[in-house]
Amino acid sequence: MPGKRPACRIIVLISGGGSNLQALIDNLHDGELATIIAVVSNNPDAYGLQRAAAAGIATATLDHRHYPSRDAYDQQLMQLIDSYQPDLLLLAGFMRILSDPLVNHYHGRMINIHPSLLPKYRGLHTHQRAIEAGDREAGCSVHFVTPQLDSGPLIIQARVPLYRDDDAATLAARVLKEEHRIYPAAARWFAAGRLQLSAGIAMLDGHPIYPSLN
Ligand code: GAR
Repeated sequence: MPGKRPACRIIVLISGGGSNLQALIDNLHDGELATIIAVVSNNPDAYGLQRAAAAGIATATLDHRHYPSRDAYDQQLMQLIDSYQPDLLLLAGFMRILSDPLVNHYHGRMINIHPSLLPKYRGLHTHQRAIEAGDREAGCSVHFVTPQLDSGPLIIQARVPLYRDDDAATLAARVLKEEHRIYPAAARWFAAGRLQLSAGIAMLDGHPIYPSLN
């Protein structure tokens, strides 16, 4: 019998509520494909830490306020992450800019979810910016992480309508529903060995996913 693929060891990095973490727990944790081996937060008060503990997942907090520089913090973060020997890192509302050495260290195995239709609205306040621009649609994007902020190769996007009476909160809620659908899907593809970053292009089953954008 051909050897079974070992479950993909995932670390999820969070800073806040962790609703995306919850979607990952509900949809792929402790299954045949993948297991979340730890949840790491830079914020000791992140509610997501409680979600992880409730699911029996190890948690670790590394408070960035205790480090003199981004590089010092990121070095410690890398040591912590590497001590778990993960196959995949998922940024799920991890609200820190990561230094190039860290990003390069996890090249091809670090994925982020961002609440806009990239390349539109990199950075913060994405929903407010979409509303102010008069956009008629909004959405979210899952992408491999590269040193340029919110610019890595796209894996999957989801679109939602943007209504005239939306505010940032109503739009965020509509987009989050989609985030909870597409992030576990992308993680499953990776865990199943179907998704790779190859020469700067996200490939699914050996084919470029967004050939015109990558
Ligand atoms: C999500 O909307 C995620 O896309 C966003 O933060 C939220 C976290 O929610 N991430 C970013 O803005 C990263 N630049 P959650 O803690 O409930 O998953």
